Amino acid sequence: MNTYRCAIIGVGARGTHQAEMLQRIPEMTLVALCDINAERLKAAGERFGVTALYTDIDAMLAEQRPDIVHVMTLPGVRVEPVVKCAYAGVKALTVEKPMALRPSEAEAMAAAAAETGCLIAVNHQRRYMPHYQQFRQVLADGCIGEVKFVRVTSFSNTLLEMGGHMMDGLLMFLQEADPVEVWATSAGAEGFHSPIQHDAPRRTLARILFPGPIEVLWIHSQDTVSTLGESTIYMHLEYNFWGTEGYAWHTQNEGWGYQRTGMARPVGGPTSWANDHEQAQVEFTRAVARWLDDPAVVHENNLERSLRGFNTLMGMYKSSLTGRPWRYGTPVTDQDVSDLQALLERRERSTN
Ligand SMILES: NC(=O)c1ccc[n+]([C@@H]2O[C@H](COP(=O)([O-])OP(=O)(O)OC[C@H]3O[C@@H](n4cnc5c(N)ncnc54)[C@H](O)[C@@H]3O)[C@@H](O)[C@H]2O)c1
Repeated sequence: MNTYRCAIIGVGARGTHQAEMLQRIPEMTLVALCDINAERLKAAGERFGVTALYTDIDAMLAEQRPDIVHVMTLPGVRVEPVVKCAYAGVKALTVEKPMALRPSEAEAMAAAAAETGCLIAVNHQRRYMPHYQQFRQVLADGCIGEVKFVRVTSFSNTLLEMGGHMMDGLLMFLQEADPVEVWATSAGAEGFHSPIQHDAPRRTLARILFPGPIEVLWIHSQDTVSTLGESTIYMHLEYNFWGTEGYAWHTQNEGWGYQRTGMARPVGGPTSWANDHEQAQVEFTRAVARWLDDPAVVHENNLERSLRGFNTLMGMYKSSLTGRPWRYGTPVTDQDVSDLQALLERRERSTN
């Protein structure tokens, strides 16, 4: 087991949480913090006993030469630190979600990773919750027969707030299948002016077709009918699977289970964000060290997987723009994103 020198870029809510989680990871030593907000930086330095404090990313990289950097900024400041770290020789990065706001940003990250060999894991940490892995296994084992229809719902503020997590779980539960095509419609142009830079449509309804065929109904909307009893936006994340032999479900904060035809009662277990999220973040982060130790132990949240999820979200944009299905793999451009925003604004002006 090697130990790695780590730095955090962005010590806001998420960055300080990551610093806390690092205290539980013996393979990683936090050596430097970087934030443009000097006051926050000082407070985080004092709290975590770190004296190498920087307001400038380049200076931090040049002087500290960290092995691993955790990029915990808001998404408006994402691609630049990632690319800088990769070219400065950082061995691995964890990158907060959403990994990008526009296709060119995701492409720049992928190019930097490919050119430098820097390993990148996107922080969809739910994959490291034991019940996510159990649920994936139940579906892989055919406990409900062949999956035919899926519904996934969430009601966060914009598609790039929870959409990445929604999509990542969906691809995980469908055993990393590539979608075939996506049809989508979006509304809520105000989401492109997100106060926390998660610029994206407010609501998106989609039909995603996977091989099988498996049909997925995707509902990302603040007025969705979703997990009973949930009132906070980040807790709304629910998957329902119908198969040839039964039904399975997974909610973020209530439980998961399945019932096969003939079973007297369902089998499953509890889920609880409050109980699960810290350990998942620790395991997500530790897995980066294991990946560096042995490249064969590939991280669950490797960049390639996250790109597939991100590109599928961009496919929803393209379909919402054209009104036609988007074939998986067809390029989506930054201009398409701007055009979708303009289209939604025009539509909403004409109906208000
Ligand atoms: N994976 C999850 O479950 C999860 C949960 C919460 C938040 N997030 C994500 O974490 C990200 C950060 O959210 P947050 O709430 O911590 O934001 P935040 O605003 O609290 O923190 C961001 C920090 O980055 C700093 N910063 C901005 N520009 C910088 C630069 N050029 N160099 C260095 N530092 C810079 C800011 O000063 C701020 O302190 C978001 O993308 C959010 O979606 C993920």
